[in-house]
This record gives sequence, structure tokens and C-alpha cells, in this order.
Amino acid sequence: MKLQQLVYQSKSTIPFSAEQLETLLRPWRMHNHAQRISGLLLYGDDDIIQVIEGPVENVHALYQTIAADARHYDVITLADGPIPERAFAEWSMGFSALDESRREQLAGYVGPNLAGPGTPVHPGQWPELTALLREFAAHQLS
Ligand SMILES: Cc1cc2nc3c(=O)[nH]c(=O)nc-3n(C[C@H](O)[C@H](O)[C@H](O)COP(=O)(O)O)c2cc1C
Repeated sequence: MKLQQLVYQSKSTIPFSAEQLETLLRPWRMHNHAQRISGLLLYGDDDIIQVIEGPVENVHALYQTIAADARHYDVITLADGPIPERAFAEWSMGFSALDESRREQLAGYVGPNLAGPGTPVHPGQWPELTALLREFAAHQLS
């Protein structure tokens, strides 16, 4: 099975509370599990970063749906490419709050105000991003 990992950033249209997101995540996780998709959703203030990984067709089909979702905008693909193994195998969609210090840490990698590079890169070319996201996932997850 060819595994793909995609990382994008976006801005939420309306502010979500952690409770609202937890409720939204329930059916999303069921869908992801059925599609063999794992990943991580980071949310804080109105910044969103999500990692989606799994079979390449399933990842791209889900991303098409997500990118067209009116609940967020300015969707920018940061990384998209094949991976040898999952980085977030434990979670059908982990969720972690992106607090100020984490936003600052991420901005150091992703760019000021989380503005990403113009063209998405291969995840393997950006190991620091995956490593940092994994660290966030290890620290606080629902
Ligand atoms: C920030 C964000 C992240 C999302 N992540 C997922 C996800 O991981 N899995 C999922 O099934 N839907 C996710 N969705 C919801 C999809 O956009 C879509 O509403 C859902 O898959 C239902 O699709 P359908 O109405 O075409 O059945 C996400 C939406 C947003 C705004």
C-alpha cells in the first residue's frame, strides 16, 4: 500500500471551542478510520494545521472535501508526498491545542504568521515539521 502524507494550514472562518471541535471530530474520526487515514489536527486562535496520512487516493479524496469546506479558508498545502511509514499511526485524527508558544515554534518552521512556502514539498524534505508536529502530538492529545 502506497502511503501518502499531506500537511496543510488554514484559517478557521468562525472560532471553534475545544468542545465544539471534539464533537465535530467524532464522525470525522469514524470516516478516517474506515478510510485507513490517520493524522493530527492542531487548532489555536484561528490557525489550523492538519496532517492527513494514509493510502494516497484516500488522502487526496479527503483533502478535496476538506479544502472545499466553508468552515475554513486560505487553505495552503505545505507538504504532500509519499512516506515510508505513518508518523501518526495511533490516531484516526489526534487533536491538540495550538497555544501561543506552539504557534511561535511552528512559525519558526512554517514562516511568519504560519504563511507557508509557495509550493508544497515532499514530507521527507521537511523532517523538522513532522518532528515538531509529532512532539506536539505526544504532549497533549485528546
Ligand atoms: C479543519 C477541518 C478538518 C477536517 N478534517 C476532517 C477529517 O479529518 N476527516 C473527515 O472525514 N472530515 C474532516 N472534515 C470535514 C469535511 O470537510 C466534511 O465536512 C466531512 O468529511 C463530511 O463530508 P460530506 O459532507 O461530503 O460527507 C474537516 C473539516 C474541517 C473544516
